[in-house]
Amino acid sequence: MNDPNGLVYYEGEYHLFYQYYPKATTWGPMHWGHAISTDLINWKNYPIALYPDTLGYIFSGSAVIDWKNTTGLGKTNKPPMIAIYTYHNMSGEKAGTTDYQNQGIAYSTDKGRTWEKYSKNPVLKNQGSKDFRDPKVVWHEDTQSWVMALAVKDKISFYTSKNLLDWTLGSDFSPKWAAFGGVWECPDLFPLKTQNGKNKWVLLVSINPGAPNGGGSGTQYFVGNFDGKKFTPETVSTKWLDYGADNYAGVTWSDVPKTDGRRLFIGWMSNWLYAQKLPTELWRSALTVPRCLVLNENDGKYTLLSKPIEELTKLRKSSSQVSATNINLTSDMLEIDLETTAAEFQLVFSNNANETVSLKKINDKIVFDRSKSGIIDFNKDFSNIQNNTPTNGITINKIKIFIDRSSMEFFFNDGELVITELVFPKSGYTSLKTQGINKNLIVHQLKSIWTTNE
Ligand code: FRU
Repeated sequence: MNDPNGLVYYEGEYHLFYQYYPKATTWGPMHWGHAISTDLINWKNYPIALYPDTLGYIFSGSAVIDWKNTTGLGKTNKPPMIAIYTYHNMSGEKAGTTDYQNQGIAYSTDKGRTWEKYSKNPVLKNQGSKDFRDPKVVWHEDTQSWVMALAVKDKISFYTSKNLLDWTLGSDFSPKWAAFGGVWECPDLFPLKTQNGKNKWVLLVSINPGAPNGGGSGTQYFVGNFDGKKFTPETVSTKWLDYGADNYAGVTWSDVPKTDGRRLFIGWMSNWLYAQKLPTELWRSALTVPRCLVLNENDGKYTLLSKPIEELTKLRKSSSQVSATNINLTSDMLEIDLETTAAEFQLVFSNNANETVSLKKINDKIVFDRSKSGIIDFNKDFSNIQNNTPTNGITINKIKIFIDRSSMEFFFNDGELVITELVFPKSGYTSLKTQGINKNLIVHQLKSIWTTNE
């Protein structure tokens, strides 16, 4: 699998579709796989939702509930669930054409269980760029229109529509100071109120290559205003959603009820530098833990926080407070909470095979080192020391870590700074040695999300 797609909430269920090639652990003709959860923690797999067809593979995209039946594809009193995705035509690509990516839609009137492709696809034809993909659609209340953010090579094009079927270009966004490296992919545009009550719009843009650590896949964000056609940023320098090497193509859930009000995010926990070569056999790739995005404004400066969702506490099996600096880890599924008042600190995880992972705060930087973490020889970049994570003047006093066998997700100060990383130790890390962690240290053992395994 790769990118999460079509994240949408409807009638008590969170839908999670994803880029999926069912026949191998390497990338191939893309389908949309499907999983459903009622709590964002325990997921049930469902049959493949969208198969490739004569128009092409089914690349990334989004899903919305068409509450007002603007498409006319719903049934009486039943708004359709609409998936908006990219058709990638492989024969067009092979023949050297430039118009092989187009946008199509599919609809479901049975809570996402079965899907029909729209008979007049594509709904938005290629406008002359080879890279013309990953539509993320949002309802814009003020103009009573749908807005599609689309990645077009190294810019985001905003299209508008009254019915999800006919689309008009509103504007292009590509400020000179943004991060570029290759292509822009998987945009997401959504309104978000700051913690001090200002209504803003956030634009996420995944880029590949060009990430801050390791140079591969990463996600930048912009904060500003959106008038229904045009996005005007208020941030004026590159901002990264996650400084780790393994959080890419992440987007947020559509149609989360107002009573909940959260902006819920999930990312693909991998990187195109090595995604195809990872040392796994029966599975390949996973998603991050779901995160709640929160917008903070301070003196006109914006920070997008990624907080692990509250529901994750349901996975705690037992919790113990520890005071030692040398801690035994008795599971490879853990949540660890640390507090510090020290200006510098260090965490070193290791196992019996002497495989280690270290994370250090030195001066105003965090340095992450997985060069001895376990299996690393599948790619030359995987073991690079990651030393391009500035703390940007924040005083780190809290660290939360989720460890799940092959992944480590670090949240500093309730999500002010995030580092998501893959690791492939021969066996789980059994020891954590700390320096500078001079306050609380709590280790929570976690249950598996696969209820059948417990
Ligand atoms: C991002 C991406 C998307 C594309 C999909 C194909 O990881 O390259 O731009 O739609 O993956 O699987």
